[in-house]
Amino acid sequence: MKKTLLITGGAGFIGSHVVRLFVNKYPDYQILNLDALTYAGNLENLKDIENAPNYTFIKADITDAAGINKIFNTYNIDGVIHLAAESHVDRSITDPNAFIQTNVMGTANLLNAAKESWKGNFEGKRFYHVSTDEVYGSLGETGFFLETTPYDPQSPYSASKAASDHFVRAYGNTYGLPFVLTNCSNNYGPNHFPEKLIPLFINNIRNNKPLPVYGDGKYTRDWLYVVDHARAIDMVFHTGKNGETYNIGGFNEWQNIELVKLLCTKMDEKLGREPGTSAQLISYIKDRPGHDRRYAIDATKIKTELGWEPSVTFEQGLDITIDWYLNNQEWLDHVTSGNYQSYYQKQYAH
Ligand code: NAD
Ligand code: DAU
Repeated sequence: MKKTLLITGGAGFIGSHVVRLFVNKYPDYQILNLDALTYAGNLENLKDIENAPNYTFIKADITDAAGINKIFNTYNIDGVIHLAAESHVDRSITDPNAFIQTNVMGTANLLNAAKESWKGNFEGKRFYHVSTDEVYGSLGETGFFLETTPYDPQSPYSASKAASDHFVRAYGNTYGLPFVLTNCSNNYGPNHFPEKLIPLFINNIRNNKPLPVYGDGKYTRDWLYVVDHARAIDMVFHTGKNGETYNIGGFNEWQNIELVKLLCTKMDEKLGREPGTSAQLISYIKDRPGHDRRYAIDATKIKTELGWEPSVTFEQGLDITIDWYLNNQEWLDHVTSGNYQSYYQKQYAH
């Protein structure tokens, strides 16, 4: 069936994997990739599909309401998969306004444009909002986030994502806008910007730079390979029920320090270093303010209702990821030149 889909944030980490999957898997769909190309957006991520006949890139900013309306007036959009966001917690601590603008106002602009352009005729239409498990706050040593867990965001990033989730549900409830929403755990994989833990530490190990572990290193995250997230988005977009929320995660919890040690071991092997060499780079530094202690997703609903589960183990996913970074030094050099250096100096000054 022919469809025109607007994917926002498609030049970013997760978005580029979603765009690739949809362009390759659905040749009858017209895929519009809308992205402002902030520091985190990079068209190099999509070199392999940039000339595909069913793919169009649109450089636009979701905070520009008039520009977004124009896009909805130009194209006959059937579905939106909304990933564009400011996504890094540390940046939200130093510059919360950018998160309010993009994540809250930008999402509202998309909702308004979809509502106006669909004019109450919602047959075959769908607004998919991609969100995070961080909206649920922090867990103690046990328990999981369920779809029914009350929201309790703790950082400016998670507060802005929580606000955007509320707006999506409110438009569904008030105007009947057909939506689905997913809350996913920490992703890792190729094309991840090296400000986040895994790609930052791979890059630093390779360059023999200190590995800045926040606080006591015993914070816990639940890691999912990015392609498995993209597969889940495909499944929820096509088979999820209107108005429903699905949690996505890999039942794969790691304390940061244990994950960092595993990365060091694997990097020693791959770089032909003596065992224990990279671990000497571990350096405990000042904690992130308001740092959430533990995240863990219960992904039972998406498995039992839609049949989704991860396709790779953490070991396999990490191997693919490390190999990708080691084989794509040029990509790393491009994204770590310029502004990245000043961000790094400021973030890790102490
Ligand atoms: P990312 O930072 O790698 O990419 C974000 C993309 O959005 C970039 O291409 C950027 O250019 C674009 N963008 C930013 N501001 C924009 C604006 N104003 N207008 C248009 N485009 C803009 O982020 P990511 O890690 O790929 O995350 C994508 C989405 O998934 C986000 O909504 C994030 O909250 C959510 N999410 C991420 C994770 C994770 O672990 N990375 C987990 C769960 C949910
Ligand atoms: O849970 C989903 C979220 O995961 C997404 O919504 C966010 O967009 C994504 O950035 C990610 O947020 P985190 O804050 O969990 O990811 P980050 O990679 O920044 O940090 C992971 C853990 O590692 C966290 O406990 C902080 C710690 N950390 C991170 C960095 C960058 C360090 O100890 N040192 C570091 O230098």
